[in-house]
Amino acid sequence: MQQTDVVILGAGAAGMMCAIEAGRRGRSVLLVEHNKAPGEKIRISGGGRCNFTNLHAAPKNFLSQNPHFCISALSRFSQHDFIARVEAAGIAYHEKTLGQLFCDGSAKEIIEMLLTDMRAAGVELKLETRALEVSYRDGAYILRLEQSGREFEVQSSALVVATGGKSIPKMGASGFGYRLAAQFDVPVVETRPGLVPLTFDSGQLALFQPLSGLGVDVIVSNERASFKEAMLFTHRGLSGPAILQISSYWREGEAVQLNLLPGRDAAALLAEAQQQGGGRQLRTALGELVPKRLAEMIEQQAGVAGKLAELSSAEMERAAGLMAAMQVKPVGSEGYRTAEVTLGGVDTKALSSKSMEVSAQPGLYFIGEVVDVTGWLGGYNFQWAWSTGYAAGQVV
Ligand code: FDA
Repeated sequence: MQQTDVVILGAGAAGMMCAIEAGRRGRSVLLVEHNKAPGEKIRISGGGRCNFTNLHAAPKNFLSQNPHFCISALSRFSQHDFIARVEAAGIAYHEKTLGQLFCDGSAKEIIEMLLTDMRAAGVELKLETRALEVSYRDGAYILRLEQSGREFEVQSSALVVATGGKSIPKMGASGFGYRLAAQFDVPVVETRPGLVPLTFDSGQLALFQPLSGLGVDVIVSNERASFKEAMLFTHRGLSGPAILQISSYWREGEAVQLNLLPGRDAAALLAEAQQQGGGRQLRTALGELVPKRLAEMIEQQAGVAGKLAELSSAEMERAAGLMAAMQVKPVGSEGYRTAEVTLGGVDTKALSSKSMEVSAQPGLYFIGEVVDVTGWLGGYNFQWAWSTGYAAGQVV
């Protein structure tokens, strides 16, 4: 049976970072990945340019049952530490918006940087190899692995679970990490799709369908969070960065509020329009504030039409109110098929925030997305993967 110091399951962002760090410390490391290639999510991320971190990453950008858990890992290996590696590798990058850093060229440059560092650190990478089963005997982990139909066993003193979440099953998401947690009595916070488009029922779709394909800047909010970003009307419901962000804070059965005129006073603007040219139709005035198709929908929703001069103040308020705070009630989300992340996961109560080791199970570590810490859209999730990979890599 092959013996190694550390086995890491999953060659995603977290697993590769951990492998580099442990290898640099002289540990023998076997990194196991069931896909044909490592870092598949890195490759497709950020439209192929990988939004690899965020200049402003801070604990407030992460969701978890324990909001303080992420502080330690994020401060020990921060966005600035990862940026320094990107720069040392000569990868050109730029800030797109809101601190989001993307490669100028291709996400493959990030994967190549990690592979180069892994090779230098002596990490053994086994691709197209699936973890079937894990057992723990006499202080060691025995893994039963399968490669091209052949089963074999590997023994290690440390096992790092970096198998990611449930999002996008066709890219390798397996749920294996959660099953392993259950096997070792590690609690798992209920999982659900995050950073995901929201969907409407047929009644709402009939109203919103004419807007399909339209993008607008909004402030979307509920009682837990608020985001000012772009939103897209789709043939299923709502998408775009603003909606992906709020989706992580949304629960089924709840409404979200849309301010369709962010940073502007809808009531004051309509009143001004009424004073300046009362002969104009409401639809025309609305159309000067928001795209025409949206203006028509607001007019229809408000049940108000006609010349501005002829509208009562209550009617004006109704139209302005809809622009400032339109309530929409999604019925669901597009689910793991398109979700960028999985909320919930391995309960942080069971882990050391410094090393990511399971407190009650020596030598077992969970890192990256499989843990109940989920970042906002904008490079935060990769930063969590780098930070936790680094943390575990220092001690395994
Ligand atoms: P990750 O999922 O990357 O890796 C887990 C690995 O484990 C996979 O390679 C999987 O195949 C492997 N595995 C699973 N089970 C296994 C088993 N039983 N045996 C062997 N291997 C197994 N974030 C961000 O910060 N910026 C961005 O631009 C984007 N963009 C983006 C786009 C899209 C389309 C998605 C789906 C997601 C993003 N994200 C993102 C989120 C980001 O990709 C995600 O949070 C990280 O990849 C998580 O890294 P991990 O290493 O934890 O898991």
